[in-house]
Amino acid sequence: MRLFPLFSLAALFGTQAKCLRVACSQSWIEHTPIAYAIKNFYKGDTATIVNGGVASLSDKTVDLGANAETQGLKNYVRNKNYRLIGIIVEVTYRLVANKAAGIQTLADLKGKRIGTMPGSSAEVFVRQLLSSAGLSQQDYTVVSGDVCMRAPCGANSFPQQLKNRKIDAFGIWETAVELGIEALGEANVAVFKNASIYREVYSLYSTAEKLNDAGTRKKIVQFVRALNQTYDVFKNQPDKVYSTVAQTVGVDVPVLKKVWDDHKWGPGSLGQDLIDYLAYEEQYLSKADRRQAFTRADLAKFVDPTVYQDAMKG
Ligand SMILES: *[C@@H]1O[C@H](CO)[C@@H](O)[C@H](O)[C@H]1NC(C)=O
Ligand SMILES: *[C@@H]1O[C@H](CO)[C@@H](O)[C@H](O)[C@H]1NC(C)=O
Repeated sequence: MRLFPLFSLAALFGTQAKCLRVACSQSWIEHTPIAYAIKNFYKGDTATIVNGGVASLSDKTVDLGANAETQGLKNYVRNKNYRLIGIIVEVTYRLVANKAAGIQTLADLKGKRIGTMPGSSAEVFVRQLLSSAGLSQQDYTVVSGDVCMRAPCGANSFPQQLKNRKIDAFGIWETAVELGIEALGEANVAVFKNASIYREVYSLYSTAEKLNDAGTRKKIVQFVRALNQTYDVFKNQPDKVYSTVAQTVGVDVPVLKKVWDDHKWGPGSLGQDLIDYLAYEEQYLSKADRRQAFTRADLAKFVDPTVYQDAMKG
């Protein structure tokens, strides 16, 4: 029987040639270190980006996923094998409001129409920020719309809705907020942010099974090292990357430069401070999603710092 060895050879070759597959949305600034790391630093065979996010890990051919902590927690509910293994970037989201609608402080948002994307990290941001000013969900109306990354923005986009007074304020990721500020003019807006109330923790995820597989783990560790080299460039030599990042996600460089400082490029600590932050977000998320909140023990299992530890052993 000659077929048998042929088949096993094919199977062996199949696993060896397998490239690392990383799922993320390719529309937002947050993902750009992934593309940059693949192009410039990753020494493993090959790596490719596929469209998706943390939820794509249910597809066994996907090794890594990237998404905000909000999507990470939502997916962990049904997938206790998912692991948060790194932080790509922390972003202080902002909310822009039209002063002409009588808004000077967060409390003035009472009774107003506020744009955000329901079910996303941005909704968590808006809810938490307004709750910090004593406003409950009944005190204002959430309006959905499109994110715009580069002017001119479409009629249904948040910056344009703000300009046309269909909404009084909106909170979402960049560069849309910056475009909202520019649509009305800096003197005519109030901008609110508070990283301790909400910051997006855009993270890298894998599964316990992938991390337990020696071959896959080795590639993941190499990939995390390549990402770490990338953060160094993003943090310390941004002039080298503005144009690539702008091209990758379709934004204008001057606008990108204005929002750059709200992005804290990795790796961030995967220690107690992260668990504390996730536990605090869980108080909101578990109520919103009508489920039991994760315990600190659940969260400590979700956050797996061992890939970072391996990467640092270099
Ligand atoms: C941010 O929020 C924290 C926690 O509510 C609060 O203590 C702090 O004063 C706020 N910072 C600003 C600048 O408003
Ligand atoms: C990332 O690189 C820095 C040096 O730039 C190093 O100190 C740190 O240990 C690295 N972290 C990881 C996870 O590789």
